[in-house]
Amino acid sequence: MSYLLPNYQRANREFVSGSGGYLVDGEGQQYLDFSSGIGVANLGYDHPTVKEAVAKQLEKLWHTPNLYQNSLQEQVAEQLIGEKNYQAFFCNSGTEANEAALKLIRKASGKAKIITFIDSFHGRTFGSMSATGQAKIHGDFGAIVPGFVYLPYNDLATFEAALDDEVGGVLMELIQGEGGVLPAKQEWVTAVQKSCQERGILLAIDEVQTGIGRTGTLYLSEQYGITPDIITLAKGLGNGLPVGAMLATKELAGAFGPGTHGSTFGGNLVAMSAASAVLTALAAPDFLADVKRKGHVLKALLEEELLPLEKVVDIRGIGLMIGIEVTIPPSEVVEAMAQAGVVVLTAGHNVVRLLPPLTLTVEQLKTGVAILKESLL
Ligand SMILES: Cc1ncc(COP(=O)(O)O)c(C=O)c1O
Repeated sequence: MSYLLPNYQRANREFVSGSGGYLVDGEGQQYLDFSSGIGVANLGYDHPTVKEAVAKQLEKLWHTPNLYQNSLQEQVAEQLIGEKNYQAFFCNSGTEANEAALKLIRKASGKAKIITFIDSFHGRTFGSMSATGQAKIHGDFGAIVPGFVYLPYNDLATFEAALDDEVGGVLMELIQGEGGVLPAKQEWVTAVQKSCQERGILLAIDEVQTGIGRTGTLYLSEQYGITPDIITLAKGLGNGLPVGAMLATKELAGAFGPGTHGSTFGGNLVAMSAASAVLTALAAPDFLADVKRKGHVLKALLEEELLPLEKVVDIRGIGLMIGIEVTIPPSEVVEAMAQAGVVVLTAGHNVVRLLPPLTLTVEQLKTGVAILKESLL
């Protein structure tokens, strides 16, 4: 009997330490990590820059409320934004970043109708859960937040048909992560942005899973050549410390005047010290280009080794965010891989998801693929 609510399906395995791209369980068994703790520990488990920054901040001051100036928040915002036309709001998780986006869309547009997509995932709090286009996530929780319209992903005709004067915004992922690692089509994304701009509809991109270097650029929206009105972030931003962020264009930001929205812990000093160190590491020359290169190597290797296998249907993704659609329950693959010493994830109904730390070497990626192949024979 556990003292914990049974809302998670936990494997019978506990990780007690980690270093680089490896985790160690209570029995001393070492695992090569292809999960980054669901896209969080993007720099691995003991990145020296992040560790040092957090240790230093722990000695100085842990928390100061958002009633005072916060130069660490300013610094992280500057690292996230640079020359782009945004301002940042900090919170503690992806769902909170999306809550902020939903509230900002409604307040800035004066409209309550927001388009999201079938099989999306935006979080578990009421607003983000209601934005999520999956009935199983809405569950038996009673009335959800009204105003959401769920449309088929990658389909322009239904999107265009749904646009009317009541739509205030669109919230979407560029790769549906939890939904099964489904990348958006370039032409569709370009057309969605164009229609939004023409009609004055706000475009919010949920980069909670795709952002912070996961796909080889700081934001995946850069690769799609779009400039969203709002970007939401979390997961990799704190490399394990809880940090979420919403970036909104300066024109929109004014809709959140003092007292409109907030968070006690949002932008917490210790979390910000981690975020700043993460962004410094990502800004090192060639770091992101190397992620892109490793992403190409990984995908090419997977296509060569796994696609010919009977149990493999499709391989898709961008950078180091890869989904392998399989004919067997993906949870079986996860368990077989764990027993062979590699941590992988599932997504959707039939997808094995790989989110390796961005710092893994090509050799480590090759090792993981070889073990994955064994588990799919
Ligand atoms: C795209 C996306 N948005 C939002 C969330 C929710 O983030 P959190 O669990 O930090 O609230 C997730 C989590 O998996 C996600 O993948």
